[in-house]
Amino acid sequence: MIIAVDGPVAAGKGTLARSLARELRLAYLDTGSIYRAVGAKILEADQDPGDPVAALSVAESLGPGDLERPDLRRESVGLAASTVAVNTQVRAALLEFQRDFAKNPPDLADGPAAGAVLDGRDIGTVVCPDADLKFFVTATPEARAERRHKELIERGDESIYARVLQDLKDRDARDSQRVTAPLKPAEDAVYLDTSTVEAGKVLETALDVIRSRGL
Ligand code: CDP
Ligand code: CDP
Repeated sequence: MIIAVDGPVAAGKGTLARSLARELRLAYLDTGSIYRAVGAKILEADQDPGDPVAALSVAESLGPGDLERPDLRRESVGLAASTVAVNTQVRAALLEFQRDFAKNPPDLADGPAAGAVLDGRDIGTVVCPDADLKFFVTATPEARAERRHKELIERGDESIYARVLQDLKDRDARDSQRVTAPLKPAEDAVYLDTSTVEAGKVLETALDVIRSRGL
């Protein structure tokens, strides 16, 4: 079974995908961490995330350890990620790993996985267009910015709400307007609006959809 979870910044994609993975014995891939890893390495090397040659070279040499970097969740890294993510060649270089993960998911700690759940922006449209189920998770920009702001403060990062809201809107615009694999719901995606719904309820609704489809 392959489940795709897409949506804009801080909509609750990762929270839902991680819970579905736990409930259904699926391997989980946070594809945003791949783009974030490219962004982080570019910033670390003092290069420009908009430089196509630098971004492609980093994308082609990415290793599994890069996805575990402690700086991946920084706002600056998210912005750099969305800049490198515009690059068509960078996206192509990262595609095979994601598709392979979906088709041949790694074992879980306690045995084989029953499939995979991937979250990102283009999972239902490009990475796994044949996924068994596609969710498009949304929430208002204000609800999303509040959550991301709270998350950053709790982690000990500096954060100003108005800045987080502006960065989130900029990133959504860049992700939606790019030519290659823009952020958009797949035609057959199930919408989940999490603006006023806590994570447990979102999971229940998603599990109901899965059961109702006999998956
Ligand atoms: O993966 P994505 O960026 O879409 O969002 P996330 O990391 O799953 O969620 C962003 C923040 O919103 C986290 O702090 C979650 O705990 C919180 N959240 C929430 O308050 N209510 C939900 N229904 C889902 C997530
Ligand atoms: O967690 P959050 O919603 O803040 O972002 P993320 O999922 O970690 O993704 C970071 C950035 O990577 C996004 O703003 C996109 O530009 C890019 N991305 C993408 O283009 N395609 C994906 N499948 C996943 C992420």
